[in-house]
Amino acid sequence: MTSSTRLGFTHKFVESKDGNDMVLFLLHGTGGTEDDLIPLAKEINNSAALLSPRGKILENGAPRFFRRLAEGVFDIDELKFRAAELSDFIEKASDFYKFDLQRVVAIGYSNGANMAATLLLLRPKVVSKAILFRPMVPLVPDTLPDLSNKNIFVSGGVYDPIVPNEDTERLAELFKKCRANTLVHWENSGHELRSEEIVDARNWLSNLSN
Ligand code: MLT
Repeated sequence: MTSSTRLGFTHKFVESKDGNDMVLFLLHGTGGTEDDLIPLAKEINNSAALLSPRGKILENGAPRFFRRLAEGVFDIDELKFRAAELSDFIEKASDFYKFDLQRVVAIGYSNGANMAATLLLLRPKVVSKAILFRPMVPLVPDTLPDLSNKNIFVSGGVYDPIVPNEDTERLAELFKKCRANTLVHWENSGHELRSEEIVDARNWLSNLSN
């Protein structure tokens, strides 16, 4: 299946099956593409629609969703700009592909998880649930959003050399302060994903009431 360049982002959209109205919004890690998380998304929900954009920033040729000044050091103004741009993309996609924003589940890995966390904190309207693998605290907004209707699964790696455990905890605390229903999962791994946490994320999502 070829990628589309409409709506401002190179992306793939895969229709749902069997009347499933869930849309998995996929955000890859640094150096990834719109294809990377599609197999993982199918493990999490095989019949949901998939919307998978490619990050527009290139770091030595590696796609990302926003610029970084150094490992874990972000240009906050640029991050806000990129989050607004991506949130506009989801809204346009919901009109174009005809899906309900309330059915959008963001799934992000690493840089993509940081972007998904930013959307929750700055543009919560476009994401209803989120599965964040190896996120850090991308920013702390001046005004905390009300996330009381959001469900968030945060998955950290105990031995992650990129994301310190305290950072994962701080992000989860921030979401809880915003009243999101937040679950923190710890995997015995580094920055890389393990199949066990994908199964746990799938079970968490399928056990939510809607
Ligand atoms: C980021 O830049 O978003 C984080 O450092 C994660 C990464 O992409 O390595």
